[in-house]
Amino acid sequence: MQSPPTTLIIFGATGDLTVRKIIPSLYFLFENSRLPANFSVIGVSRRDMSGNAFRDFVAGVLTNSSRGNLDYRSLDRFLDIFTYSKVEFQEEAGYQELARTLDMRDRSHGKTNRLLYMAVPPTIFPTIFAHSGFKKIIEGGSVGGLLARVIVEKPFGEDAASAQSLEQLLSTCFTEDQIYRVDHYLAKDILQQIVDFRFANNLFEESWDKDAIESVHIRLWETLGIEKRGNFYDKIGTFKDVGQNHMLEMLALATMDAPKSFDAQDLRAERIKVLQKLRPPQEKDMATHAFRAQHEGYRSIEGVDPNSTTETYFAVRAEIDSPRWSGVSIFLESGKRMHEARKEIIVTFKKPFQNTITFRIEPREEMIIEFMSKKRGIFEEGRKKREFRFSLHEMDAGKQYLAEYGKMIIEAIEGDQKLFLNKEEVAAAWHFTDPIINAWKKNLVPLASYVPGSDEAIHSFTQNPNML
Ligand code: BG6
Repeated sequence: MQSPPTTLIIFGATGDLTVRKIIPSLYFLFENSRLPANFSVIGVSRRDMSGNAFRDFVAGVLTNSSRGNLDYRSLDRFLDIFTYSKVEFQEEAGYQELARTLDMRDRSHGKTNRLLYMAVPPTIFPTIFAHSGFKKIIEGGSVGGLLARVIVEKPFGEDAASAQSLEQLLSTCFTEDQIYRVDHYLAKDILQQIVDFRFANNLFEESWDKDAIESVHIRLWETLGIEKRGNFYDKIGTFKDVGQNHMLEMLALATMDAPKSFDAQDLRAERIKVLQKLRPPQEKDMATHAFRAQHEGYRSIEGVDPNSTTETYFAVRAEIDSPRWSGVSIFLESGKRMHEARKEIIVTFKKPFQNTITFRIEPREEMIIEFMSKKRGIFEEGRKKREFRFSLHEMDAGKQYLAEYGKMIIEAIEGDQKLFLNKEEVAAAWHFTDPIINAWKKNLVPLASYVPGSDEAIHSFTQNPNML
């Protein structure tokens, strides 16, 4: 498919998200010849900057992130696609100017589809969206039957109510098919694999239900801590940072019903359906079915409240209230500063032998099937546990991130929403998350503590027989 000619307009062009992810992943796409032929980028921010200064800024970002491996000849060609437009977010003039620039380009170079990347905090959206010049930018951005589109990043609110307000705000400027809500986990290769593994084979799908399966365990352990994000993280905690989004998407992919087709609409419909059936523990079970802990030393990190009760580890036992899954234990568990990096989905089958199928993101992207076999050798008796392993192409961790972001940008350019969240998916995720966070606020689940780099947190909850 020929990608439509596109102008990417980045709001927040000198901010953290642009520096860490958008510029490096655009360069990754460029280096791998994956950018559309007719593609350009307009950086937008409040800073007073010339086009040249912005291109220098982009070059600086890549020089810093490439650790000396930058090809300066191709860099110049890459920089050619960037221009800059100053917009003071409170003032109408900048938007009008940008709308004029875009219209002039359309007239001189042919129309391009407009893809807006909102790389600014959602608190600034109301200011931006209120301007008629901003609406002009969107309205003038339709080409060949495609509508202008917008990419937005989490957090999508901080609970169900604020998420709904954000949606209302987005809907003042965009329709649902124009909105591309990022969850970069959906772009992870091994997670995309799940859909094919489950629905392109009839190997396990027949027994992919409560009759055969005992539990589904979603794990996201990180050895990293919160780094320099004290201010941000302390207001959020692990459950909202990765549980409410990435881990629920992992669960959705592992447990959704077969979609009617593999198009965005049908795939997303099935993800939504299963998430809407996900049930948090009831309040009376909270103390045994939910667990939270904070690592020692967390409170002295810069930006963190010295009396903070924010969790850096959580575990929740949930259920999916559907004929297919009722009674199957669903575990979600994640922590910072864990003893090892391990991100995976483990599907455990019922006895006799509790076979497992693991979809693993870290330490390596792979799929592992454990099974019982007779010991090798004609005269041998007894059984031994064995496994089939399927590893995906290995990319170093830095590149992986760029590929995931790059893939999402390409899908947004092409107008395919399957790797993006639908608003109902986000709402369902909050309806699951809110009661647990509220129980924590009421201290129905006491906050435990663990030593960074140890597996203490895990033991504290696994010792509770009701959790397992
Ligand atoms: C982000 C969280 O959304 O996901 C981070 O804010 C977390 O705290 C990260 O570390 C994990 O993503 P990945 O791709 O490194 O597994």
